[in-house]
Amino acid sequence: MISSFNRLAVAGILAATSWATGAFAQSTEVKIAYALARDSHYGAAADGWDKYVTETSQGKFKFVHFPSSAQGGEREVIEGLQLGTGVQAVVVSSGALSNFVPEIGVTDIPFLFRDLPHARAVLDGPIGEGILEKFKDRELIALAWGEQGFRHITNNRQPIEKPEDLAGLKIRTMENPVHITAFETAGAAPTPMSWPEVIPALQQGAIDGQENPLSVIVSAKLWEVQKYLTVSGHVYSPAMLIVSPSFWDSLSDDEKKIFADGALKGKEAMRAFVDNSEKNGVETAKAAGMQINVLSDEQKAAFQKSIQSAYDGYYETYTKELIDQIIATK
Ligand code: PAF
Repeated sequence: MISSFNRLAVAGILAATSWATGAFAQSTEVKIAYALARDSHYGAAADGWDKYVTETSQGKFKFVHFPSSAQGGEREVIEGLQLGTGVQAVVVSSGALSNFVPEIGVTDIPFLFRDLPHARAVLDGPIGEGILEKFKDRELIALAWGEQGFRHITNNRQPIEKPEDLAGLKIRTMENPVHITAFETAGAAPTPMSWPEVIPALQQGAIDGQENPLSVIVSAKLWEVQKYLTVSGHVYSPAMLIVSPSFWDSLSDDEKKIFADGALKGKEAMRAFVDNSEKNGVETAKAAGMQINVLSDEQKAAFQKSIQSAYDGYYETYTKELIDQIIATK
């Protein structure tokens, strides 16, 4: 049994430790979850956000990180945010998000964005701002757009050079209706599944391939389970920094500003990481043994043509006017 003298001594040591470390007397824990490792672009976003909030609030908030899908797949963590039963903050891809906020699906349309500056201009402008606003109606507080880069195809069957090479390819897609439609239209056999299931499915041969940006291919060392990388850049892949409404409502106005500004720091860190992956990712994958083919503009145009009929559905869902507005953004 601990004596009252020992209890006092323990309390004294704890007080001295928090004083020495400068820790806030009662710091509030902010659990943050994301799909990839701490040293990925997701970790970069979470670290940028964490650093800004911790420093600016002088330690009032303390981030606790759950990388590598430690809290489950993206759909599960988003549901937890909505209900207030899970973590307080997430960095997630757009993969599962359109099941919660359908308006974000427009950003998932293949061959919509020309390059990273185009995507960033759209997301940082009125169209992107408008989509962030929509999250509030669905019990989610989206504070900033993050980014993954352009998605490319990896598989164990053959190099993908023309649309016919996709015929019957069992390719894992995100649980994302826009992506599923595109791959179906191109003649592949899309298999939607959540990220934590992907590596085991590739190892067991249940699927032939998957598609993800270089940031993910390198961070997840996909060469351990995939032979061919086709640099197709078929679709841009955004991400988002989101907090739960119950946590948001518990903050003062000043604290809300700190979290919102911190999310923008996270976005910048994520984009910087992606810039670097886009520069070095192909070389890294090649050095690790992947067999790589880079689609020419002409080859890309053939893929775009092969999914033209999917665009009819996209026009119906998101309107031609909005899609044209995105394309016209400089
Ligand atoms: O393919 C996905 O599910 C996403 O791009 C990933 C890897 C989970 C990162 O959010």
